[in-house]
Amino acid sequence: MDDAKKINEVMVSLFNIVLKIEEKAIKESTIHDLSITEMHTLDVIGIGNGRTMSEVAQRLQINLSTLTTAINKLVKKGYVERFRIPSDRRIVKIKLTKEGIDAVKEHEAFHDELIRKALGKVSDEEIKSLIVSLDNIDTFMHMQMAKPIRDERDYSLGIIDFQNLHIKKALFQGGMGVGISLGGLAGAVAKEGGMGIISGSSIGFDEEDFETDPQKANRRALKKEIKKALAIADTEKNRGMIGVNIPYNTEDYREYVKTAVSEGAGALITGAGLPMTLPGICEREGYENIALIPVISSLRAARVIIKNWQKKHRKRPDAFIFESAMAGGQLGFKESELLRARELYYKTITDIKTEIEDIPLIVAGGIFSREDARNAYVYGADGIQLGTRFVTTKECDAKESYKQAYINCKEEDIIIIMNPQGAPCRALANKFTKNLRGTDYDITEALVKAAKGDVKNGLVFCGSKAYKAKKIDTVADIFKEFI
Ligand SMILES: Cc1cc2nc3c(=O)[nH]c(=O)nc-3n(C[C@H](O)[C@H](O)[C@H](O)COP(=O)(O)O)c2cc1C
Repeated sequence: MDDAKKINEVMVSLFNIVLKIEEKAIKESTIHDLSITEMHTLDVIGIGNGRTMSEVAQRLQINLSTLTTAINKLVKKGYVERFRIPSDRRIVKIKLTKEGIDAVKEHEAFHDELIRKALGKVSDEEIKSLIVSLDNIDTFMHMQMAKPIRDERDYSLGIIDFQNLHIKKALFQGGMGVGISLGGLAGAVAKEGGMGIISGSSIGFDEEDFETDPQKANRRALKKEIKKALAIADTEKNRGMIGVNIPYNTEDYREYVKTAVSEGAGALITGAGLPMTLPGICEREGYENIALIPVISSLRAARVIIKNWQKKHRKRPDAFIFESAMAGGQLGFKESELLRARELYYKTITDIKTEIEDIPLIVAGGIFSREDARNAYVYGADGIQLGTRFVTTKECDAKESYKQAYINCKEEDIIIIMNPQGAPCRALANKFTKNLRGTDYDITEALVKAAKGDVKNGLVFCGSKAYKAKKIDTVADIFKEFI
């Protein structure tokens, strides 16, 4: 039998037999009144503060009426309960009862033990290479959700020359706040020919008056960091660009835009909302040569921005950054959408690129290796943006303890927490995240603590592949690897 046939046979057989073993295990356990589908539903509801019906339906990819029938049964059996939230009595949520939580835990333990036993006679080395192979197969299967639009042999991260965006190498370094991508890192990236991005988020955290007059402290620090970045980048004649990332929900957004441009930034990058007023601000201030780059998480967002900017300002974005569900920091998806967004990653890239045509598409989130970048290219990325990879560089502005936290972390340490607005964020599990109760906390304070080096009690953002970081690189190493 040839290898492909054999592997196909094993995969199909594994899929079937695991389902049967699961069924049998449930029947023989204390939760024998549950079907596999019901167990899966309990899993999705999860051990937490409850979810809305539409969140669960979305995750399970079934319609609301099918879910309602299923939940009625689970309520009758005593595994799920409905409740109203005190702050808005109109909203009904569902959560697991104690019996439901025990069932999910028992089922998790079953899976864990099954795999452990199955791997009992396999050596550590073999397990390591098995994980790599399975990971590759998983990536390949995800790629089957869309049709490639380019040949992988043509992969290149070359020049982008579009409207106000002029870079020698289509490699962006993501804006990382608070205090992770400042002038040092952004300058080094621009010097290599890429787009170095200073994060404007609470950038004045180290200034004396940050507590008393944060706006003033932030603007002063922003000026300093842009100067520093330009001084580094200008040592190279063929340099790339310096951009500033200003979240759209920043108080006094317009003032930061003005500070960034007047100090010499060439690009403005904005996420955390659709930056509808950005071209208007630039028009009024007479900024004609600045690249305006929105960060988006869907085709719909790209469409809305293009239509609105065109109608009101006759302006098209100079590029879009599509940030996927695998990125670090605050994500542009609801928690219930994360899994589906990951499944549709390649399809979303293709859909966006096909519609936005000549506007450069930069893809971010979960790109760790040259192969990841090439896969994004094949499906439509004109360039890539890396966050996590640049944290563990010599030039990164983060404290040494921050970089080491990446190098020492394991895959299971990378978790999703909710920000105070209820949006998911990817971060490293530590004392801070363990002690989190709900969303009533000061996120800026937590990020500043980590930026100052306290990576146990502060909030450390990271991308989904941070566990792959093994050493400190230089920015030049990363350009060599990806270009
Ligand atoms: C430590 C950290 C902080 C981040 N902070 C911001 C931010 O303030 N604003 C933003 O738009 N994106 C932020 N991001 C997202 C990055 O800019 C980038 O798009 C993303 O991390 C890319 O995914 P990767 O880390 O898997 O490469 C942050 C990412 C990290 C890892």
